[in-house]
Amino acid sequence: MADADSVAAMRILFVCLGNICRSPSAENVMRAVAEREGILDDLELDSAGTIGIHGGNAPDARMTAAAKGRGITMRGASRQIRSADFTEFDLIVPMDESNVRDLKAWPGAAEGTAKLKLFCEFCEKFTDTHEVPDPYYGGAEGFETVMDLLEDGCEVIARKFKDGTLLKD
Ligand code: 4NP
Repeated sequence: MADADSVAAMRILFVCLGNICRSPSAENVMRAVAEREGILDDLELDSAGTIGIHGGNAPDARMTAAAKGRGITMRGASRQIRSADFTEFDLIVPMDESNVRDLKAWPGAAEGTAKLKLFCEFCEKFTDTHEVPDPYYGGAEGFETVMDLLEDGCEVIARKFKDGTLLKD
């Protein structure tokens, strides 16, 4: 999260189930892309899970290894989504449809102002899936697929932020 005194132009929250694989990777990939694009100071980035059982935990070691292979250092600790997130963020980006369902049923979601948009709606290179598949119970290739999708979508998020269309359609 950006520090409390800074005024971020756009607050983006990535969401998955456990907040130890996909969404912390999305946050860290987004941070790296934003830094490269010179927009890191304009964004407040965070991630959360719909379940709380991994609360406080570091990202999964398999995910951290896959991210490292792409030059991404994984930082952060798992936390569960909270009702305030639906008003404190401008854009909430879930990884799959079950995340969307869980978020829509969350207390405070209906009153929230955040726009909800599935991550893969931002992907332009990898368009044959509309979800970032849960890699938790699978093999190493699943974590590479996650990274492929995240790098693709985060590039597009950065471009849309820069051209002012991120919250449109
Ligand atoms: P994530 O992956 O939602 O991408 O963080 C998972 C992490 C934990 C579990 C499932 C998926 N779990 O069942 O504990």
